[in-house]
Amino acid sequence: MPNLYESRKYLSEYLLFHYGNRQDLCPFHFAPKNAFHFHRRIAREMIRPVRKPGSRALDLGCAVGRLSFELSRLVDEVIGIDGSRSFIRAARRLAAKRSATFRIQDEGDLSSRRSIRLDPGFRTRRVRFEVGDAQRLRRDLGAFDLVVMANLIDRLPDPQECLRRLPRLVKPGGQLVITSPYSWLAEFTPRKNWLGGIRKKGTMVSTPDGLRKLLGPYFNLVKRRDLPFLIREHRRKFQWVVAEATTWIRSRDG
Ligand SMILES: C[S@@+](CC[C@H](N)C(=O)[O-])C[C@H]1O[C@@H](n2cnc3c(N)ncnc32)[C@H](O)[C@@H]1O
Repeated sequence: MPNLYESRKYLSEYLLFHYGNRQDLCPFHFAPKNAFHFHRRIAREMIRPVRKPGSRALDLGCAVGRLSFELSRLVDEVIGIDGSRSFIRAARRLAAKRSATFRIQDEGDLSSRRSIRLDPGFRTRRVRFEVGDAQRLRRDLGAFDLVVMANLIDRLPDPQECLRRLPRLVKPGGQLVITSPYSWLAEFTPRKNWLGGIRKKGTMVSTPDGLRKLLGPYFNLVKRRDLPFLIREHRRKFQWVVAEATTWIRSRDG
């Protein structure tokens, strides 16, 4: 299957999702209001302040980078990693120029131009973007005070492979934030690797159950929230999704 996240369609949808204003994202007065500013809400509602010099954050599956820039307000160094070359190229360009222009689909072949500008509060020099595979991260990444995986786990072929690295990636006392709508699809994740949404020996296993089983020996769950977001496909079509967001603290033992 071709990587959808390399397509122009996804690039434009994600640039709008991450940086678009409310009017461009969904101008209808009956739009679900809480579904805007998803990445800002993750930073504000799910992350405890990190107050120490040299603090580091990792945004795994960063796409076009909005959450990485939000994290630049909270820590001294941010690394954003994504498997899509075109997303990382766009994120780097935004970090350098602080603005971008692109086209969004309106109807059929019709499209229109949109411009976006980074919030002046983003400390772009603190952020570095890399192409990488969340399941095979380079060994010399080091450890982080904060690791965020926003809407990534159900897009990985083998999420457990990625989760196995987390106890070493998050410093003792550090934070791990995971958001996901748990939209398991065989085209991204073979059924045998789903963390939940399955029956095991007749028992229903939900993804929160699966996460607790895998992370519980190393992390304590300290917060849970329902976080909605909206992705615009075209002028009259939107995805309204409710992710579950959880914050975990790395235990000092285990
Ligand atoms: C549903 S999007 C979420 C993007 C972003 N975190 C957000 O909340 O808007 C999933 C992202 O994961 C990336 N991705 C998929 N598989 C990956 C992998 N194995 N390693 C790193 N990134 C991956 C995709 O390129 C895409 O940017």
